[in-house]
Amino acid sequence: MYKVLVRHELLGNYLNTMKKDKNIELLFYNNNGSIRQWLIDNIENADGILITSNEKIDKEIINRAKKLKVISTYSVGYDHIDVEYAKSKGIVVTNTPEVLTDATADLIFGLMIAAARNIVSGNNLIHKNEWKAGWNPTFMLGSEIHGKTLGIIGMGRIGKAIAKRASGFDMKIIYYSRHRHDVNATFVDLDDLLSLSDYVVIALDLNNDTFHFVDYEKLSKMKKTAFLINGTRGKVVNENDLVKALNEKIIGGAALDVFENEPVDNKNPLLAFPNIVVTPHLGSATYETRDKMAYVAVKNLSNVINRKEPLYKV
Ligand code: DGY
Repeated sequence: MYKVLVRHELLGNYLNTMKKDKNIELLFYNNNGSIRQWLIDNIENADGILITSNEKIDKEIINRAKKLKVISTYSVGYDHIDVEYAKSKGIVVTNTPEVLTDATADLIFGLMIAAARNIVSGNNLIHKNEWKAGWNPTFMLGSEIHGKTLGIIGMGRIGKAIAKRASGFDMKIIYYSRHRHDVNATFVDLDDLLSLSDYVVIALDLNNDTFHFVDYEKLSKMKKTAFLINGTRGKVVNENDLVKALNEKIIGGAALDVFENEPVDNKNPLLAFPNIVVTPHLGSATYETRDKMAYVAVKNLSNVINRKEPLYKV
């Protein structure tokens, strides 16, 4: 009998199918006490765990596991898992790439348009009954998207999907990445990307090289009118530096779906700026994508338990 710890019920029927498997016992987190404590208390005899990017799986947790075979994360990101340590113990780490690329790129693109065209502030204005003057030639003017320069930092799956969308919007697309890619975008060095772009979009995952990659020095190189858009990992941006840059008006604004600390506290100084659009980590949050992620995460898990190759291994 294999024992699997499951953080959340997931969309679709995939976990239900697993529940019917007589060889597998699923133990769900019951929302009592901290999730970390639950993992610590139950991981010793677990063969697999199905978690999300909120659960930190570090050496302390891994050391308690005596027979763990697989850590399946319901996310593309795996910065919350000590992957090298898990591997050194023979534990397979799996994730859910590809299926969430398009949904995430859609949201990032939407954030960019929302920030540039005052969609959120316009919506709030009407809801607050503050639209008094009617149509007016200089009312709530924003920046255009078409014809503008989009700078993408990082050209993995999400970067490529953003570039694809941007070409439909007739943008000039430049990118910076460790490697050159065969994409409809021009490679430039980082300083050029920062100084030329009207929109700087971060499409980086989080690792030791990308932690606080966007700091005050880099923000200072951006156009005063440019927007920073981040929809991948919050810790890639030094938030204190972003606050400083917004205070000093050295950039035009920002749109963020991810933050250094989530959920965002309402005292977070970023929230005081009118030229920032924020959403609560919704990149992959569509019915279709979360269903596909559930399929992949469950399949990864059951494949490893059944001694088969997972669909995606980190
Ligand atoms: C991911 O899949 O990594 C998303 O950011 C959710 O954690």
